[in-house]
Amino acid sequence: MKVKADTGKFYEIDVDALVVSVFEGETAEEGILKEIDDRVGGTIASVIGSDEMRGKSGELVYIHNTGRMKARRLLLVGAGKREEFSFDTIRQVAGAAARFLRSKGVKSMAILRRSQLDLCRSAQSAVEGALIGLYEPDAYKTQDKEERHIEQLVLATVEGDSEELIRGVERGRILGQATNFARELINEPSNILTPTEMAERAKRMAERFGLEIDILDEAQMKELGMGALLGVSAGSDEPAKLIVLTYTPEDPGVSRSKETIALVGKGITFDSGGISLKPAEGMEKMKYDMAGGAAVIGAMQAIAQLKPEINVIGIVPAVENMPSGRAQNPGDVVRAMNGKTIEVINTDAEGRLILADAVSYARKLGATKIVDLATLTGACLIALGTVNIAVLGNDQQLVDDLIEAGKLCGEKMWQLPLDKEYREQIKSDIADIKNTGGRNAGTITGAYFIREFAEDTPWAHLDIAGTAWINESKPYISKGPAGVGVRTLVELVQTLARR
Ligand code: BES
Ligand code: MN
Ligand code: ZN
Repeated sequence: MKVKADTGKFYEIDVDALVVSVFEGETAEEGILKEIDDRVGGTIASVIGSDEMRGKSGELVYIHNTGRMKARRLLLVGAGKREEFSFDTIRQVAGAAARFLRSKGVKSMAILRRSQLDLCRSAQSAVEGALIGLYEPDAYKTQDKEERHIEQLVLATVEGDSEELIRGVERGRILGQATNFARELINEPSNILTPTEMAERAKRMAERFGLEIDILDEAQMKELGMGALLGVSAGSDEPAKLIVLTYTPEDPGVSRSKETIALVGKGITFDSGGISLKPAEGMEKMKYDMAGGAAVIGAMQAIAQLKPEINVIGIVPAVENMPSGRAQNPGDVVRAMNGKTIEVINTDAEGRLILADAVSYARKLGATKIVDLATLTGACLIALGTVNIAVLGNDQQLVDDLIEAGKLCGEKMWQLPLDKEYREQIKSDIADIKNTGGRNAGTITGAYFIREFAEDTPWAHLDIAGTAWINESKPYISKGPAGVGVRTLVELVQTLARR
């Protein structure tokens, strides 16, 4: 999809369809809606305020006769209350419009700017919304595949600095594509996306975008003492890989003086539960247990292009969790890379085990801040449903920075506590720690476990078990992998780079 800006008159934009947001309670008696109404000969005035279009979000009215306007069609999109208008509204309007117009065979569309919000970020949000909205998880369909494409998106704005606009468009493209790349990976079934294949895809991305990549095999991990990660991998015929992507800023002065941010993502390519086998129902969904890892790989792709002035490493332990005669058993004790011993009570609590070693490795590589991202606990779905990411950490500033970054990206987060008292639940009788803490506060005890390996490094953890998969299509996005976390991680890195 080509994206361009147009600063001319709205009625002279030569596209198949022009998209205009309508706020709740608005009429066509003034402003831009009146101007449009005059051009299309009164249709808008008759529609707006009727049951067809009250400006509520999700409402769409498609107008065929556009009168004295070059655009062949006009699409009115409800944008909700004007006071609540945000970058996320822009994303949703753009996504819903793009999906609707594609279904009508439209090839070129223009979105009219209607807010006073920051121009660069508005343009970014519109492009993100369209790209993310148009993604379909249909790679494996040979029939009923979406063959129609929107080829051109025009951002129509009357005033404003065109450089800001171009910057926003470019950022939107980079972040939209990175999000969709992560979604493609998440959508892959486990027979295709094995740990080896995940590493291969990361490598191709790294070569294309100029990142350094190191892929550790099991022998190297054994050498490093990563007994927690290797214990999870023991039951699988697919060898584990530790994917390490490194971004270094061009200015060597910057890379020496600044911090190193580690983004660590859970990459369980399939979670059967291991010997603590999961029930059959819904188990197929556990191909998305690498969504955290995919988000890290996607974020690194965007970071390579946006070039923030800060060192970033992306670490993805890619492992398959399977039962077999060689699998680890409940009750086994493993030794993690940092020397801590772990009693494995439940082999289905595998995410924290692989993250334990990945986080230790991040510290070994010199990370000064660590953010991990994982589909870690079913308890997260119970606590926060599919709306909020759970965020926890040992450093309130980092947690606050993540929440702030999430707000800008439309990725909501809710902090859960990590009081010392919760440590009691993961005390082991025979080892330093055990990998489950019982039914109570499951998301917290899961995070607490990882905290033990972050030690004194500022660290935050995002549990995306509830948000990484969209169960029902919405007008602005298809169901399936969400690609959650990609944009927030990039936003965080850029925030930290500016400090
Ligand atoms: N990958 C799962 C968590 C999960 C569940 C993600 C549902 C998405 C949807 C994780 O590895 C897991 O199995 N966690 C266990 C931990 C328990 C055994 C302590 C869980 O949440 O039940
Ligand atoms: Mn599990
Ligand atoms: Zn898992």
